[in-house]
Amino acid sequence: MTQHALLPDSIHVERAEGAYLHTKDGRKIIDGISSWWVNTHGHCHPKIVKAVQAQAEKLEQVVFAGFTHEPAEELAKKLLRLSDPSLEFVFYSDSGSTAVEVALKMAIGYFEHESTPRRKIVALEGGYHGDTFGAMSAGSRSVFNKLYEPYLFDVEHLPFPFEGREFQTLEKFESILRGGDVAALIVEPLVQGASGMRIYTPETLKALHDLCRAHGALLIADEVMTGFGRTGSMFACEQAGIAPDLMCLSKGLTGGFLPMGATLATKEIYTAFYDTDRSKTFFHSTSFTGNALACAAALASLEIWATEPVMSNIRSIEQAHEKAAGWFYARPDVAALRVQGSIFAMDIKDETQGYLSEIGPQIYDFMIENDVLLRPVGNTVYILPPYCITSEDLENIYETLWRALDHIRDEREQRAA
Ligand SMILES: Cc1ncc(COP(=O)(O)O)c(C=O)c1O
Repeated sequence: MTQHALLPDSIHVERAEGAYLHTKDGRKIIDGISSWWVNTHGHCHPKIVKAVQAQAEKLEQVVFAGFTHEPAEELAKKLLRLSDPSLEFVFYSDSGSTAVEVALKMAIGYFEHESTPRRKIVALEGGYHGDTFGAMSAGSRSVFNKLYEPYLFDVEHLPFPFEGREFQTLEKFESILRGGDVAALIVEPLVQGASGMRIYTPETLKALHDLCRAHGALLIADEVMTGFGRTGSMFACEQAGIAPDLMCLSKGLTGGFLPMGATLATKEIYTAFYDTDRSKTFFHSTSFTGNALACAAALASLEIWATEPVMSNIRSIEQAHEKAAGWFYARPDVAALRVQGSIFAMDIKDETQGYLSEIGPQIYDFMIENDVLLRPVGNTVYILPPYCITSEDLENIYETLWRALDHIRDEREQRAA
């Protein structure tokens, strides 16, 4: 995601604490994007540091095929307790992309093993599910994967359910379902992250879920970005009152401390692979599956959720975002202001839309010069802070962003004059 021909040297971070990144040359930068949406409780949270240190002295990593360990078992139990009761099994991997690959393979394998093969995967236009080939296939075709398009498998994409046009999405989905062969629908529930924090309603998510149910297709909820409080509830699916058949987790799973993925599945899916016939094994391995340090970090993160006022911090962030949205609303150069839980986003009016809009890098440059890390997606600028951020730091981000927009407007006017 970095074009080295255009970007100067990378910023060298020496240490991090709470919402701050401390650089080698003495700067203190506010991490306004939770280091690509992974961090939840702040950097180097002492409870996670301690848990990982303690685990490192006991067991760092062991093969997870035919072997198990306490942190992995404990974590699986806790994740299942947190999620919908219909999800009863956990498969560990090591990233969001692998959590998605696992879900796709489980969905296809489920129907094969049930002797009712279904081959079609359906996804939402604008979705992003990772950069491995299966995940890229499920994702929207874009500048990110254009080069590899001939190698991606076919996926039917539904139009994004924009407000007032949800019926188009649902009608298209229903007609695809009627055609048969649909194994699964994969969605980022409520918020599409990489396509620019695009939000749709819980009612639409529920309607998509109900259509899956009515036609025997599986629903894969990719909660890699939305999970662990980002949208204002532990998992976004909760707001729609739905139970997916497969749920993908990563990023905030370990509090953003260590790489880890998890795919949660129903008993029906587990049972489809459960057989004395070894050829029916769910064949998927990543060397670091169930890594003990990552499990310890995730357990410590869940302990923080249980003992610290994390959800009330998210509410405070949401309130601050809503207030700021009121200010930015008055600007003629912004549109489509949106707030969902800890996420604030808006589009900057520009003649070039999409990822290659020059507005993104201009805002990035201005913000970073002022010690705030924001990484706009094209002409969409968003704030997605760690939950420990103070109201002063949030104010600082809004105010710096306001100045960034003024600066860009002034430059445009000068060029036009
Ligand atoms: C919704 C979603 N799914 C999957 C991924 C891929 O996760 P990773 O980068 O850990 O492979 C991302 C990453 O941004 C994501 O936002």
